[in-house]
Amino acid sequence: MLTMGLEAKTSVLPYYEIEHPEISRICVFPTPEETAQAAAGEIIGLVRANPHANITYATGDTVIPLYESLAKAAKEGRVDFSQTSGFHLDEYYPCGPDINEYPHGFVAYLRQRVFAPLGIKKANEMNGLASDPEAEAKRYDSLLSAQPIDIAILGIGPWSDEEQTGCHIAFNESGTPINQRVHVQILDPVTLMRDRQERGQNSPDRTLTQGIANILEARRIILLAYGEKKGQSLREALFGEIGSQRPASALRLKGHKVTLFIDEAAASQLKKKLIL
Ligand code: GLP
Repeated sequence: MLTMGLEAKTSVLPYYEIEHPEISRICVFPTPEETAQAAAGEIIGLVRANPHANITYATGDTVIPLYESLAKAAKEGRVDFSQTSGFHLDEYYPCGPDINEYPHGFVAYLRQRVFAPLGIKKANEMNGLASDPEAEAKRYDSLLSAQPIDIAILGIGPWSDEEQTGCHIAFNESGTPINQRVHVQILDPVTLMRDRQERGQNSPDRTLTQGIANILEARRIILLAYGEKKGQSLREALFGEIGSQRPASALRLKGHKVTLFIDEAAASQLKKKLIL
């Protein structure tokens, strides 16, 4: 059914919802731009309701239009992020804030696209240059335990039909236990291929990442995905076996807190599996 508008959206966009037995809402919009704009509206509504929200920010291509929308809203005075606290979802290791030395780095990305334009004063960064990454993981985990996350903004990683691995959330790769907390993660070949061959990055295969357990503790989880490839990852996450082989499938364990904002191309990969 085609519906008009989500409650908290800044503008009214046409969308429809896909029903899923575990996930509270799967909202489908015609284009990536509209999807991102709608997700921005949802987040703006949540921040207006809770100006001190603790928010985890994913990085990557998917969330760029979302962050542009949020930055525009902040600039126009439609939302105030200044009292919120920002949190890292994941980071390459080793990796520092110098964009010339680490052009793939998430800390530089977050400073440039999120923390500065949104006027976030309390940015809790993962230190990708810590001499002891295990200790840095522990430090970050304590930080998250002390400041529970209100909103976690996520993307989803690629899935390989051939390898039957993928669909990470943060950098939790296939095989990561669902109860894992912040940890050092070695990247899966599917992710390494994406980073090195498809994106031409010279990024390391080691990372620091919030664990699935940390993500599931967030009060609200908002995941964005566009395009057929991400639709295949979602197909596995939403209809495959729940377990560590498909890390994003764990979201179904806390599906009442989860909203997906996806475009029509991603939704096309789900429709074959749907009981509408
Ligand atoms: C990235 C990050 C995640 C992100 C996901 C999807 O590498 N580790 O935080 O959500 O993989 O990225 P993209 O949106 O670029 O496809």
